[in-house]
Amino acid sequence: MITKYNNSAVFLHWIIGFLLIFLLITGTFVLSEIPNTLEKIGNFRIHMILGILISILSVIRIVNIIKSKKPEDLQMSKLRLKLMKINHVLIYVVVIAIGVSGILLAKSTGLGDIVFFGSNNEIYESFKDYSFGKIHGFLTKVLLFLIATHILGVVSYSIKNKINITKRMWFK
Ligand code: HEM
Repeated sequence: MITKYNNSAVFLHWIIGFLLIFLLITGTFVLSEIPNTLEKIGNFRIHMILGILISILSVIRIVNIIKSKKPEDLQMSKLRLKLMKINHVLIYVVVIAIGVSGILLAKSTGLGDIVFFGSNNEIYESFKDYSFGKIHGFLTKVLLFLIATHILGVVSYSIKNKINITKRMWFK
């Protein structure tokens, strides 16, 4: 009987979680607040490299989920179990969609060429005027909601059942 996630799942879960929180906070409160001048290129570079890294790690995690044996289900109502699984799937779908929309935004506005390939083109004044920019920003709010409900679910289950289920997602 498997009671814990495997070590690669644990590593990927916490590294992706940490990077997501970092990008969600800095993206919302720092990056999108700074005017689009040349001084911002370093910030863009960090955001874009980490965003691409998260997207790649998430694809690896999805493959890991499909290929590895899962721990047994937690004891809860069928409805709650279903909602929990939907929450998990949606998190990965939305993370990948954020990564793809970010890449499409950078590609379609020439930002990728400016940041990574030294292009001298001017940076657009606001990325919020672009559909990919609007989609990227909107999905980050959806992800915040999904992560908040994910954490709320873990905490409420642990309190109600008096067990620390985060131990399932820690190294063996
Ligand atoms: C997958 C993880 C990612 C997360 C969690 C994330 C998060 C964010 C957040 C929270 C914002 C601010 C949105 C707003 O408040 O309007 C933002 C903006 C942005 N992101 Fe991402 N992002 C990710 C990936 C990427 C990637 C892969 C790229 C490009 C290669 C990218 C490029 C951008 C750009 C160009 C902006 C606009 C910044 C501005 O308005 O000045 N992001 N991102």
